[in-house]
Amino acid sequence: MSRTGAEFVVVANRLPVDKRVHPDGTVEWKRAPGGLVTAMTPTFATREGAWVGWSGGAGPADAPDTVDGIDIHAVPLSADEIVDYYEGFANSTLWPLYHDLLVEPVFRHDWWDTYVSVNRRFAEAAAAAAASGATVWVHDYQLQLVPTMLRDLRPDLRIGFFLHIPFPSYELFTRLPWRRELLDGLLGADLVGFHLPGGAENFMTLVRRVCGLETSRDPVGVRDGLGTVRTASRTVRVGSFPISINAADVAAQAAAQTGRAAEIRAELGDPRTILLGVDRLDYTKGIDVRLGGLEGLFAAGRLDPAETVFVQLASPSREQVDSYIAVRNRIEQTVSHINGTYGTTTSPPVRYLLRPVPRNELLAYFMAADVVLVTPLRDGMNLVAKEYAACRADHGGALVLSEFTGAAAELTDAYLLNPYDERDVMDVIEAAVTDDDDARRSRMAALHRQVLDFDVDLWATSFLQSLAGAGAANEETA
Ligand code: ADP
Ligand code: F6P
Repeated sequence: MSRTGAEFVVVANRLPVDKRVHPDGTVEWKRAPGGLVTAMTPTFATREGAWVGWSGGAGPADAPDTVDGIDIHAVPLSADEIVDYYEGFANSTLWPLYHDLLVEPVFRHDWWDTYVSVNRRFAEAAAAAAASGATVWVHDYQLQLVPTMLRDLRPDLRIGFFLHIPFPSYELFTRLPWRRELLDGLLGADLVGFHLPGGAENFMTLVRRVCGLETSRDPVGVRDGLGTVRTASRTVRVGSFPISINAADVAAQAAAQTGRAAEIRAELGDPRTILLGVDRLDYTKGIDVRLGGLEGLFAAGRLDPAETVFVQLASPSREQVDSYIAVRNRIEQTVSHINGTYGTTTSPPVRYLLRPVPRNELLAYFMAADVVLVTPLRDGMNLVAKEYAACRADHGGALVLSEFTGAAAELTDAYLLNPYDERDVMDVIEAAVTDDDDARRSRMAALHRQVLDFDVDLWATSFLQSLAGAGAANEETA
């Protein structure tokens, strides 16, 4: 049967654009939030194809036909499905479970039922969008059932799956009442990818113990040295592919922002030290950790609040979910406590902005920052750390980075800290501020080199080459 459609299809919960309806009824399409869109957008610069995803609103499918040359296939979600699938199962069950139980996951069978039916809708949309023998790349924890659903509909496709968040241990994952179904869903892929070898190995342990399947036993390498799982009919490859950014582009765009960076420093009152945080407002990001460290340093007289400004740029996220409402309240109370205690009416030491900042402005903040604080309690990768390192071709600035991010495995020249150790948090922030220039510059030179050498193109190309090999091997044995 001949079939028209795209040769390359990305399936992700979100489209690269997000629909905003203003109070006067006008509609605006903005870049969607988060690291997945940041990483996938340049991947399309060298590939034609289609993107299947949700536009961020309730009701009938609604999106532009194309965005930057990508064919857009919008998947509709009703208001109830947003509550049960997106806010519920994806972000109140899977997200906290996969992020070390930072909040208690909620296990509800009605949420699971909606997760299954929404995953089926995404699989059907992908099946309709893909040409015969096409490559389909499914993304993230919201869509773990899609690989097998899609293979049942379209056995001719090469299917890859990549998880953008941490993948937990056997002990955590097996709490899920639907652990077997989720693993079976992923095993429909030819290649299942994780950021770190540890996630890949957790997955292989789980399929051995929960599904009773045979797997390879050698350690999984980074970008090669794939693991294998033997199912009844196919071999599934399992690998580690640390995601990155379009570092050369980020560096070039940041270089054009040095004038604006100087203006920002002046607008902030020309302090001796500018510290910066940039995050979705999420309890995993450890915004409260860095605020605690800062307050401790002010209280101990180790940092002078009159000479220090900490700018926290926070992008609102998952605003209807209770745990996100709670963390926002906690952060806002801490910010006002620090400003009330250590600030003056004209110079509060913490500047907190709760809205997404335009891309060029964000790069200007990176150029202005003396220290960027990336302090998650758990994070699959963290692209903010890589963006900052890419910006600093001048080797200025310093990166403070939590050991509990995927990025810490590669950015070993950062000022690494344990976010669970308040003394370490204070010591490391202080060292990043006060170390001599040579030490700071040689660390930043190494970080900048690292992100330029290991960019998003390497991530996408190495995943897609491994997928092509895995798909071809399965076709031969079919
Ligand atoms: P996550 O995928 O969990 O959101 P990442 O750090 O991997 O985290 O990616 C976040 C992306 O969103 C980065 O590209 C970052 O620059 C962008 N971002 C985060 N916060 C903001 C903000 N306040 N304004 C604009 N962009 C932001
Ligand atoms: O990286 C995890 C992730 O859920 C991505 O899928 C997404 O890009 C980002 O975080 C933002 O989350 P949301 O789509 O829920 O706003």
